[in-house]
Amino acid sequence: MRKTLNLGVFGFGVVAQGLYHVINETKGIKAEIKKIVVKNKTKQRAIPMEYFSFDKESILQDPEIDVVVELTDDSEAAFELLRESLRHGKAFVTANKKMIAEHLDEVYELQRKYGKPVLYEGAVCASIPIIRNLEEYYDNDLISSIEGILNGSTNYILTKVIEENLSYAEALSDAQRLGFAESDPTLDVRAYDPKFKLSILIAHAFGVFIKPDQIIHFGIDRINTADLQYAREHEYNIKLVGRAFKQNGKVYALISPQLIDAKHPLNAVRNEYNAVMVEGAFAEKHTFIGKGAGSYPTASAVLSDISALTYGYQYEYKKRIQENIPEFSNQGLVEVIVSDTDGAVTPDDFEQLLEQHNYVKSVGYKGTVTLQRLREWFHTPGVSVLLPPDAKIQAMINLANEVLETI
Ligand code: HSE
Repeated sequence: MRKTLNLGVFGFGVVAQGLYHVINETKGIKAEIKKIVVKNKTKQRAIPMEYFSFDKESILQDPEIDVVVELTDDSEAAFELLRESLRHGKAFVTANKKMIAEHLDEVYELQRKYGKPVLYEGAVCASIPIIRNLEEYYDNDLISSIEGILNGSTNYILTKVIEENLSYAEALSDAQRLGFAESDPTLDVRAYDPKFKLSILIAHAFGVFIKPDQIIHFGIDRINTADLQYAREHEYNIKLVGRAFKQNGKVYALISPQLIDAKHPLNAVRNEYNAVMVEGAFAEKHTFIGKGAGSYPTASAVLSDISALTYGYQYEYKKRIQENIPEFSNQGLVEVIVSDTDGAVTPDDFEQLLEQHNYVKSVGYKGTVTLQRLREWFHTPGVSVLLPPDAKIQAMINLANEVLETI
């Protein structure tokens, strides 16, 4: 028998407004919004003022509220709220990927301590139902890799710039206006946001909890006209691809712009759409595609979590319980195409240098580098990195210094 849930919502931005709409439109969900806590006391609201409060205790102390739905963009305040909500015996639903990714181990322990669920399907690729699938469908499959487009704003920008010749600034401004980008869009274009999502996926696919900072990444903000010209000349698209895979008991990950050929499954994933490709030993390959940002797509995932709570659902973190928890490693090699305008890159940076071209304003290289070199280049202005279409990370096995790895 499903229970009717009373919801206390924090925040009334793009996603919370979408949730208000989808809860009112959908038939059959036994849940209603009782209170919405916001910060701004003077802002005009599109729904009756009776819903609103400015005091978090009006939700936390209300014994009739069963579920706290957190839809703000303040990750530290959101974590505090999570802790307090569970302590007050309430379930917690959030789309706050930064908060979940940075506090995964504590979120896991707090659920065990208080016996109350925390669900966050909306935190990863919005409308794509990936976390519950990893937990339930793939619970006994041996997942070998997970890869895809994990950020809607950057996919929207790349689509507009590459396929429709819009300028980067115009495309970014559209992504902001349409409600896809984060309040601080640096999180999108420098690829911090997909790191949050990839760390959550890694937890549910491989059972290992890492901090997002452990993932090496490159954003789309360094892509320059030479890169665009190279892609066009070779009839490639460019996508920001996040990947994690397991090899010899270790998990490796990387997020970087990648050249994509016309036949690649990610080539057809345009605008704010995301894609997640999962490969398992038994199921083999699946590709999930859906809107990865925006009001209703994200609200649909939050709604699905609320619905799951009506039948007592909670994540079991099955891979964490079933398997020997793998180590996370950044000891890998990857082939890259690099352009450098400031003379910071040298041939010695490459484990294997395949090509070098000297242009008027930049130097272009193709070769194999360590993942750690990519981390250095992320902090080096003027260096742009693209992965080739057949990109693969090669694990550096049996390295004497592997145990000394510092992250
Ligand atoms: N800014 C995020 C994106 C929102 O563009 O993907 C959804 O997480």
